[in-house]
Amino acid sequence: MTYAVELLNITKDFPGIRANDNVTVRLKQGSIHALLGENGAGKSTLMSILFGLYQPTSGTIKVNGKEVKINDPNDATQLGIGMVHQHFKLVECFTVTENIILGMEPTKFGMVDIKSAAKKIEEFSKMYGLNVDPYAKISDITVGMQQRVEILKMLYRNANILIFDEPTAVLTPQEIEDLMEIMQKLIKEGKSILLITHKLNEIKQVADECSVLRRGKYIGTVNVAETSTQQMAEMMVGREVNFKVEKGPHAPGEVVLETRHLNVKNSKGVLGLKDFNLSVRAGEIVGIAGIDGNGQEELVHALSGLTSVESGEILLKGENITHTSIRDRFDKGMGHIPEDRHKHGLILDFHLKENFIIHEYDRKPYCKNMIMQQDVMDAYADKLIEEFDVRSGEGKDSLTRSMSGGNQQKAIIAREIERSPDLLLVVQPTRGLDVGAIEYIHKRIIAERDAGKAVLLVSFELDEVLDLSDRIVVLFDGHKNGEMLAKDTDDKELGLYMSGSKKGSEDE
Ligand SMILES: Nc1ncnc2c1ncn2[C@@H]1O[C@H](COP(=O)(O)OP(=O)(O)OP(=O)(O)O)[C@@H](O)[C@H]1O
Ligand SMILES: [Mg+2]
Repeated sequence: MTYAVELLNITKDFPGIRANDNVTVRLKQGSIHALLGENGAGKSTLMSILFGLYQPTSGTIKVNGKEVKINDPNDATQLGIGMVHQHFKLVECFTVTENIILGMEPTKFGMVDIKSAAKKIEEFSKMYGLNVDPYAKISDITVGMQQRVEILKMLYRNANILIFDEPTAVLTPQEIEDLMEIMQKLIKEGKSILLITHKLNEIKQVADECSVLRRGKYIGTVNVAETSTQQMAEMMVGREVNFKVEKGPHAPGEVVLETRHLNVKNSKGVLGLKDFNLSVRAGEIVGIAGIDGNGQEELVHALSGLTSVESGEILLKGENITHTSIRDRFDKGMGHIPEDRHKHGLILDFHLKENFIIHEYDRKPYCKNMIMQQDVMDAYADKLIEEFDVRSGEGKDSLTRSMSGGNQQKAIIAREIERSPDLLLVVQPTRGLDVGAIEYIHKRIIAERDAGKAVLLVSFELDEVLDLSDRIVVLFDGHKNGEMLAKDTDDKELGLYMSGSKKGSEDE
């Protein structure tokens, strides 16, 4: 058997934690090998070692049967290894082509030859059906497209060993289907793929083998065709996982959030949300279903105060908050788990304990007479870490940037849920979480509902919307296209409303 990559007995220590503990993973030539493990299990670390971003504390790496030393990503590129990172690494104000050639710009008469690069990129794009415009600016294209740019970057560098670190976490269901096809095409072209994902059905769909890590340790490798998703989940968390969300009937109370004829422009200056009326009551979870780009972002940004509205009103517990500050909304009882954890959720260069009190650092009990109360802050951080199982090397003193993606997400959720706001605005809450963590977070969101809080959930995962919501509102083309109780509908019907092929009521 020829292996494209052999990671042999890899150990990696970080301050306070052994992220990889004697891990061995072998990627067969021309196959897709999945890596599965809880948040913080050490998956990204292992892949970063293969890509030359970290040096292992001990262990060896073989590429195509030959032992190699990978000092940096340039070495990795030389060896034909490419990586699509968990959080993309693109320059937003550059074009697609500029990003792809960055660091290896082709020149003609001493000038950067954009044209020939763009042509080559177009060819790759056609070959794999990627549909990328080489001259588009990164900030203008969707996350799904940005990911294709990352894929093209690897292909442009002739990579044969492709690492995908949670590629589907940021994609819509249709984009996920497309990506699965792209990966299969890449395999047919003779490439080999290492795939990190928390979604077991994706592993089932495309992977040949799956290796499982748990708290840095290697648990085993299975043949995917012969193993059930339940078995894989159990290997990963070491206990049985309940995939079904349990919740009792809901008893809605007073209206907590109301929007009246809300019109909101998108970043291009066009109305993205049109004449939108919504109410969310105490003790209920309202889910917004819709394909990405149908007004969700405009709605969430308007509610949280990140954008101003064109016209219409937002009322929180009867009070008009349409033009108040973000801070004021928080003080009046709003909580927000944002879609983009790095842009709007955390300050990465702060310690974990500081991010926990980001809304309240200047007031009691965290601040008294202008002095930060370190012991109060520490105790609060320890409580949240314990309760929400936030894992990192140095606990509350970890630099947030050094934490694994899923644990960063858990930190935001812990901060927002613990305050138990009257209105909890949750956007893609379980993005990047492992199945065990999803189970817990769903329970906590339902507990908020049962405690009489109002929850507005925006998610692109239909299962999540259907499982958690009491009531569902469909957004299509910026306006409401249907509203129903979750128990009275299913994914098929929702899909029809979401695509606009079925028309629903505009108003309650
Ligand atoms: N640069 C770093 N400095 C210190 N600790 C780190 C660093 N990178 C990772 N760690 C720690 O190593 C552990 C493993 O992290 P890693 O990012 O590999 O997890 P993961 O399996 O990819 O998790 P997730 O599913 O959440 O992405 C974590 O506890 C993390 O805090
Ligand atoms: Mg990771």
